[in-house]
Amino acid sequence: MSATAAEGLRFEGVVCGYGDTMVVRGLSGRVRPGQVLGVLGRNGVGKTTLVRALAGQLPLREGRIHWQGRDLARVPAHARWGLGIALAPQENVVFGDLSVEENLWLHRRVRGLEAYEAYLDAFPRLRERRAQRAGSLSGGERKLLSFVRTLGAAAALSVLDEPTEG
Ligand SMILES: Nc1ncnc2c1ncn2[C@@H]1O[C@H](COP(=O)(O)OP(=O)(O)O)[C@@H](O)[C@H]1O
Ligand SMILES: [Mg+2]
Repeated sequence: MSATAAEGLRFEGVVCGYGDTMVVRGLSGRVRPGQVLGVLGRNGVGKTTLVRALAGQLPLREGRIHWQGRDLARVPAHARWGLGIALAPQENVVFGDLSVEENLWLHRRVRGLEAYEAYLDAFPRLRERRAQRAGSLSGGERKLLSFVRTLGAAAALSVLDEPTEG
């Protein structure tokens, strides 16, 4: 592992929110390779807001987020995947008009479910429904599809917002 990869993820005085209301106020900390960080808190406390900031969907009002030694402020949302950050958002988790398997192929160079076999063994319901429109899955099944797609990406950083919801 390179020196910069070992840096992992670092939050430094992060402040962000909506309009005049700051939801995350001065968050600092670090997640190193191999570590799992769980962010707990009641509804509305700001977990999803923090995820949006990490994903690049919400600008920081103050502070910095560093990933593998790089300041993410200069990295647009669409480019963060290329840096090894995979996101399973809380809502709008799948492309409803695409099939289950298309949702799993979408972002990959190769069509095929090889990368997902272990996950599809664990969640056989998804394999059974591979040809079904993702939009016709139940809420919990859609969440499962998003979870499997994100973990199957084997990214350096997997960000899961409410993975067990539904
Ligand atoms: N797009 C938005 N515009 C304005 N306020 C928002 C928006 N999204 C969330 N909020 C507010 O920010 C606070 C934190 O919400 P959120 O991050 O979704 O919490 P959690 O994920 O912990 O349940 C809540 O008070 C919520 O109402
Ligand atoms: Mg949330």
